[in-house]
Amino acid sequence: MLFGSEGMLRRHSQKWDSLLVEFIKEHVCRLKEGENTSSSDFIDVMLQLTNDTGTAFVLTNEQIKAILLDMIAAGTDTFFAILDWSMVELIQNPLVMKKVQDEVRSIAHGEVKVGEEHLGKLSFLKAIIMEVLRLHPPAPLLLPRESLVLINAWAIGRDEVYWNEPHEFKSERFLSGDVDYKGNDFHYIPFGVGRRICPGMQFAISLVVLALANLLHRFDWKLPSGISCEDISMEDSTGFH
Ligand code: HEM
Repeated sequence: MLFGSEGMLRRHSQKWDSLLVEFIKEHVCRLKEGENTSSSDFIDVMLQLTNDTGTAFVLTNEQIKAILLDMIAAGTDTFFAILDWSMVELIQNPLVMKKVQDEVRSIAHGEVKVGEEHLGKLSFLKAIIMEVLRLHPPAPLLLPRESLVLINAWAIGRDEVYWNEPHEFKSERFLSGDVDYKGNDFHYIPFGVGRRICPGMQFAISLVVLALANLLHRFDWKLPSGISCEDISMEDSTGFH
């Protein structure tokens, strides 16, 4: 019996609810004050659907809150897990780190920041992120299906039938572009596959590439003194379940 958990859940849910109501209120106020809507964001678009009678469905505020919560839950831990694992793998593989740092620094040469305009050129960095997603998918068992089948994306990504030296970090394997993460290759499914595939995958990849590129561009990374690569645990956990 988990005593006290119901009260805790209620308090937690009330806190989330008031935060989400606050987000919505802010947007409604801005829309009412007629602020420039040329830069509408996700909440603005959903608010338009609350009173757009021309569409097949109309969203309620409760539904907007649920969608927002879903996006926050699905888009934060996953993103940070990949960023963390990418940094750890690069620290463990100094030659790869040097190679990707050279790529980033030559592409963003003389610029303060790596920007969206550089995204298309960072092919080695993108291959690194794909390799990190193969070895450490943040949702290793994807999401549970109604049929109760669990799909072990983590094991599929390490299956020697499909991958040469599956436990080695070899980002070059993705450079040819033969395999992608969009659900076309069933042996590589870090974002899932089919109708439930992650709707945030393109956004997530761009965000991770940008974040890592900027960290590599502006900083030289090393472990704190007294800590060596062997001290870092490379064990995966159960992910976001
Ligand atoms: C590296 C980052 C991410 C990874 C690895 C990831 C992975 C996944 C996976 C494996 C699923 C389940 C797919 C399935 O069961 O077939 C999923 C679902 C989902 N993801 Fe992501 N995700 C990431 C980032 C994001 C971001 C940034 C967002 C939104 C901003 C997002 C929104 C969602 C939503 C809403 C679902 C549920 C879709 C549904 O049930 O129909 N994800 N994601």
